[in-house]
Amino acid sequence: MNKTDFLTLADYNRDEIDHLIDLAIKIKAEVKAGKFEPRCANKVLGMVFHKPSLRTRLSFEVGMHQLGGHAIYISDREIGFGKRESIHDIGKVMSRYLDAIMIRTFHQSDVADLARAAEIPIINGLTDLTHPCQVLSDLLTIKENDIPLDGIKVAYLGDGNNMVHSWLNAVRSYDIDFWFGGPEGYDPNTDLFEAIQMEGRGQARITRSASEAVAGAHVIYTDTWTSMGQEEEAAKRREVFPPFQLNEKLLALADSKAVVMHCLPAHRGEEITDEVMDGPQSIVFDQAENRLHAQKAILVHAIGSR
Ligand code: CP
Ligand code: NVA
Repeated sequence: MNKTDFLTLADYNRDEIDHLIDLAIKIKAEVKAGKFEPRCANKVLGMVFHKPSLRTRLSFEVGMHQLGGHAIYISDREIGFGKRESIHDIGKVMSRYLDAIMIRTFHQSDVADLARAAEIPIINGLTDLTHPCQVLSDLLTIKENDIPLDGIKVAYLGDGNNMVHSWLNAVRSYDIDFWFGGPEGYDPNTDLFEAIQMEGRGQARITRSASEAVAGAHVIYTDTWTSMGQEEEAAKRREVFPPFQLNEKLLALADSKAVVMHCLPAHRGEEITDEVMDGPQSIVFDQAENRLHAQKAILVHAIGSR
């Protein structure tokens, strides 16, 4: 079946990721010049959310509007994914109405099952395992800040979650020296480190020292210590993660031109301090804006006309 899913960055090679970033830069420049090309005219995107969202929902919905198409929000309360109806049948039915589906859910395997059943492109809007839309937008934001995507050190502080996994998938394609700094017991999936060792352009390491992770880094990234679905562990996590808080003292160890990134939502005073989040090195709101432009590139690539 010839369709363009966007399930993980590991499915995309360097040229394809570069193409999406360049397309996003082009579309962003057009929008800033007041030009809205209807590249997805008459196309309809279904957006299925099993978890809350601000950026993902708005960027896909506004993105489809700006591309001359339409987006429909569908919560799992209506669908009953795998309960009211099988994922297979849902995929078949949705393919009869829609041109593409963006889904945010828990299990990566559900997204893969939907992609197998559907005859239309499936876009992963976050699972417990990965968040490829966010990292595509992050790469765009880094490039836009005149930081090359090769030959840099990226420090990631905190939990070995979906964000880290998508970063590790990107490190397969880019010559990034990626340092994950987090407490024992919360490491990312080790298979992804092995994949980088086998065939990656970059390299990835784990350290228990936040200072070692951040030393000389060009990009410092952090995310919540408690991801959606882990709320019951929040109190325990607040006890273990503080040594990895991104604060001014830690940031001083990075390259003097380092940028601070966070996918948001942030928990100010936990993984990041107000001073750093609102400080001159923070590009977190550019990141949030770029979700819109990156999403549009994914949509145009999947269902649009160039
Ligand atoms: N960064 C991100 O995906 O934000 P939302 O959870 O608000 O969509
Ligand atoms: N790791 C976070 C990312 C939110 C965009 C979560 O899954 O909740």
